[in-house]
This record gives sequence, structure tokens and C-alpha cells, in this order.
Amino acid sequence: MITIQGHTFHLQAGDISYAFTVDKAARNLYWGGAIGGEDLPKLAVEGFHSSFDPDTNAERGEYPVWNGHDFTLPCLKVQGTQRVHFLTYQSHELEKDGKTERLTLRFDSAAFTLALVYQLYPNGIIGRNSVITAKEPIQLEKAFSASVNLPCYQECEVRYAVGKWARENQLQQHPMSTGILTLQAKRGIPGPQYNPWVALCEKDAGETHGRVWFAALAYSGNWAMHIEKTEQGNTHIVAGVNDFDFAWALQPQQSYTTPVLYIGFSQDGYGAMSHLMHSFVREHILPPRGLRRVLYNSWEATAFDVRVEEQKRLAQKAAQIGCELFVVDDGWFGQRHSDKAGLGDWYVNREKFPNGLSDLIRYVKSLGMDFGIWVEPEAVNPDSDLYRTHPQWAYHIPGVEPMQARNQLSLNITLPEVQAYLKGMLGKLLRENDITFLKWDMNRPLTDMDSPELWSKHVQALYSLWAWLHQEFPHVELETCSGGGGRVELGSLAYAYQSWPSDNTDPYDRLFIQEGYTQLYPVDTMMCWVTESGEGRAPRSLDYRFCSAMCGGLGIGANLSKFTQEELEVCTRWIAQYKRWRPIIQQGVLYRLLSPIQGDMTAVQYVSQDRHEAVVFAFLRGQTYGTLRPPLRLQGLDADAEYAVNGTVYSGKTLCNAGISLALRRDFQSAALYIEKV
Ligand code: DGJ
Repeated sequence: MITIQGHTFHLQAGDISYAFTVDKAARNLYWGGAIGGEDLPKLAVEGFHSSFDPDTNAERGEYPVWNGHDFTLPCLKVQGTQRVHFLTYQSHELEKDGKTERLTLRFDSAAFTLALVYQLYPNGIIGRNSVITAKEPIQLEKAFSASVNLPCYQECEVRYAVGKWARENQLQQHPMSTGILTLQAKRGIPGPQYNPWVALCEKDAGETHGRVWFAALAYSGNWAMHIEKTEQGNTHIVAGVNDFDFAWALQPQQSYTTPVLYIGFSQDGYGAMSHLMHSFVREHILPPRGLRRVLYNSWEATAFDVRVEEQKRLAQKAAQIGCELFVVDDGWFGQRHSDKAGLGDWYVNREKFPNGLSDLIRYVKSLGMDFGIWVEPEAVNPDSDLYRTHPQWAYHIPGVEPMQARNQLSLNITLPEVQAYLKGMLGKLLRENDITFLKWDMNRPLTDMDSPELWSKHVQALYSLWAWLHQEFPHVELETCSGGGGRVELGSLAYAYQSWPSDNTDPYDRLFIQEGYTQLYPVDTMMCWVTESGEGRAPRSLDYRFCSAMCGGLGIGANLSKFTQEELEVCTRWIAQYKRWRPIIQQGVLYRLLSPIQGDMTAVQYVSQDRHEAVVFAFLRGQTYGTLRPPLRLQGLDADAEYAVNGTVYSGKTLCNAGISLALRRDFQSAALYIEKV
């Protein structure tokens, strides 16, 4: 609900209140747990500043515009006939669309108009973005989505996810001190160095307690989030498209729309933050779909050597153990025998598939599985027919040797001829073959951008390709991947059904990655494969590998041709179990009971929306002789209901308060529990 009293706007949704006043500019009054609207005028906080400093209230702008008078980090910096700009409030508009409400505030200056948009979702998430429309020719030097302020002088800690290849989404948390913390992407791909979200919490907040304010940007290119704590003690998050090598020119009447920053607030720690975001992302961001299929992917088994006979052998084993989707990864096209050649030549390699793809697809379908395939449309190997024919299609700066990464260049997908080529290639592939799943990869950063606009235009071109795919091939599900987990964020998830979190499939390392991933992104989008034990790692049992991978969307990546009959039977049992539990895991509520960061035991629990069923996975890293561990306390069950666990009945309150003993004693041992209301 949005209420407006004079110049004060009060946005209420779920259990939160968000309020600001509009004089000339908009200034934040409050963001947090629900408050009485009648109390808004009483919220002014006593400030103190010397006569040398500006009023501390000036620090609390909803969208600071660089004007040379304000010293907090601005959202907008515009070069027009004047260097600085002052805005005046014009009007506001309220709209309702089903369960969501939208408020648009309009401001005016001599050079441009500004619209601030607030989209209010029922569970308390607010989407914020802005639209700048030129009145005279202007150049945007910075155009962020929003500035969001913590309550006045709130001390806080900051939590965010950092990473690199094979170590994505590692959580980091520390007290926020005076100064600016910058999280960002500068390589054209949104990750994995940082993931575009941040949470600020009161000191000592944890999984189940403490106030948490959080923000996530939906953008698949260069982004930045600056968390600024001023010397006066006010903290705000300024977020949007990175102004690193950014410029955008607007002619009169032309507009620039920023991506959306989603913000939310939890009264009860990080667990509740995740619950809010998971349900929001499922209901409002992800394309509508059902349960994720159990997939088999050939990458770790055969790498580039994908030959029809071996793929058939793998498919036969995959079907035997219960997989529902068979995905052929990199290597099926052109002269793609390694990462050195062939990328861009999207015709089937006839040495590997003498009878085309349809031979394998027919076989896969006859086994009762769907078929999926890997593509990397945004890149090209210099050693390819495509590059030899169209070298100018790769990003390049005249006179500069373009930089190769993984022996490849990036295609300038903003060129209409490249878009047409890619649509032709994808259209042919999907029309001629019974394919229901595309893994869309991107294995290098963007470089050699000849103008700063190209960074943003690349993202726009990517979204338009994905939108076209949805429209033309609505039955094809998309998985995003970028050299592992470089494209895990809300912009991609608006088109993709799932994403690939990391090339690191070690089941223990994955517990950390999965903990970071699920802070904001729902479990059903997080693909996890059972693979072989990595080189130099202590062997993890097949049970342990399955339990870790069953924490998300289950896939198999191991070379099944090398599995013994006994191992295949273990796989069959776990996959059948996963299919029974899948609605609870993929659509239930996630509770992170024990964090891998905090000790040698990790545990996660999934509770069905009706609280009738739950599944728990627990993992012991290593045992130290004689160490005894307390029972594992569950969460989210009905206190007064009775639940059966392994044939014994407990009350919900016993399971949540006293807990249940797991008896995990061996190194890298795991347990899976099914809990059902009786
Ligand atoms: C990187 C991905 O993360 C892998 O899963 C695999 O698809 C390779 N690319 C293929 O080149």
C-alpha cells in the first residue's frame, strides 16, 4: 500500500515500511520494520553538524544528482550545456497491476527530466529504477539505479559474495567503517569477482536473528555498488550500471532507463532475507516453469571429444539411472577439438556425428529423455570459418591487436548482421532438432570495446536475443553459464530457468558456493552435478557427492561409462529419492542450519510450503577423535504437529528445540533425512 500525506510518501508491503519526503529532491525518512503512518511526521532525527558542514539530512537523498553542493556519492552525473543540475519536483503517479503497485515521481531541470520509479511487491520487496529523458543534447557520465539509505546513524556490518573461477560466491562479512566499499564488475560479465548484491545488518545479526537491509541489482554487464558510510555515520548503498568507462549520449526526447535495484528488509536475520528473495524471484523474476529435470551433462566425461557412439553409451547409462535430460556440452560443432578452434562455426561436425545430431537425439528420446545442447554464441575463435569470413564482427579497436582469452574473441553482438547470424544459427538448430534445453555459455571477459556505449549495448543485445528465443521457442529452457558462475544474477534469471554456479563440482567446496548462492537466489535455479572426485582430493563417497548435489537442481556429470554396476545402482537409488523429494527441495523453504564457514558440520533443511514434509542434508568434514556434537536443531516445522523421522515420531517442537542426533563420525560423511507429518 502506498499512502501520500502532503510531501511524505509511505510505502508499506509485507512487514516493511519505506518512507521519504519530497521537497525539491527526495530524502529518505525511514526503511525497516512496519511503522504507523500517522507517526511519519515525528520521525525527524536530531542531527548535529558544524557550521562548516552541510546538514546531515542532505546525506539521505533518494537519488542524489551531482550539483556541486552535495558531497555524498551521486546517482546521476550529466554533462549538458551546464556542468551541474538542480531538480524541482513536478508530480507523481500511482498505478496498480494485480498485486503490485507502482509509484513514479517526476522531477525537472533545464537539461533533462528524471522519473524515479518504485515498484512495490506484496512480500515487501521494492524495485527501484530511474528514467532520464533529455531536453537538450546531454551526455550521461553516470546514471545509477538508486540510492538506498539505512536508518539515520545505524551502525552495521556488511555481507557480500566475492569469487573467482572455481571459487564463486564466497561469503564475506565485516563491520562497515567510515569510507566507501565498492563491489563491481568491469569485464562486461556480471561476475564472478563480486555478485551484484549486498546486505547490511546490525552487529551480531545471524541466520535467524537481527535486522538485515539488502539490495540486488538485475543487470548482466558492468555494475557497481558503492556502500558509503559518511563521517557523520549515515550509510547508504548507491547501485547501478558501473560508471567505469561509461558514457551515454541522449538527444532531446531520448530516454535512458536504468536497470532495477531490488531492495528488501528482514527482521529475522539472513535466513528470512533468503526466504523473502527466494519467493520473490520465483514469483516475479523467473520465467514460469515446473520442476527442474534431472540432467546428464557430457562435459566432465568427454570434454571436446563428443562422438556419437560414446554419447549414446553415456545416454544409455544416464537413462538407466533415471536422468530426464541429456545435454551435449562443448565440442559438437565445426573443428572444435579443443578450445583453440571452431567456436563460431555452428554446424554439426560430421566426423563426430556422421548422421547429424538427429541420430543421437532420436536415440536419447527413445530412452525417454529430453535433449539439450551447449552453445557459446557471443564468442569466436580466430581459428574458425566465421572469423576468417567476418573478422570485423569481433570487438576490436582499429590499430590494436584484440586480446584473446581462452583462445577466443568476443563477437560484437550489437551489430545487426551479427544478431541476424546468431538468430539464423539458433533458429536452424532449434527448428531442425528436437531440443528443449540450451546451455548458454560465455567464457571470456569483454575487451577491445571501441566506445564506452558498447558495454551497455552488449547487454541490451544479449537481452534481445534471449527475449527472441523465449518468443520463438517457448518450450526451450535456458541455462546461463559464464566460465562457471560468472552469470548468476537477477538480470539473467529473468530469461534463464537455471544457472551454473561453478566449474568446481567438488561436493565439499560446493557447500560454500551453495551457501553464497542461496543467500538471494532460489535453490531450483542452482544446478549441482555429481562428478568424479577431483585430482588430489581425498575421495568423497558417492553418497556424499549425491547429498551435496541434491541440495539444488540435480545433475550428473561423471563419466558413467566408467561406473561399476554397483555404483550405477547407488545412482539409481539416489535419483529416485531425489525425484520424490524434489518438490520439497526445489519449491520449499530453505533453512541453512549449520554453515560450512563456521565449523566442520554443514546442514541444510528444506520444508514444504505446507510444512507437512521436510528434507535435511548434513555433512561432516573431518572427525577429530572423541569430539561429540550436539543434536541438530531443525527449523520451520509446526511446533505442535508430530513428525516421523526414520520410523520414530517426534513433536515439531522437540525437533526444533532439542534436535535430533545424527551420528556422523567418518571424514566426509553425509546424512539425508526425510521428515513427514503424521
Ligand atoms: C565452461 C563451463 O562452465 C563448463 O561447464 C563447460 O560448459 C565449458 N565451459 C565448455 O567449454
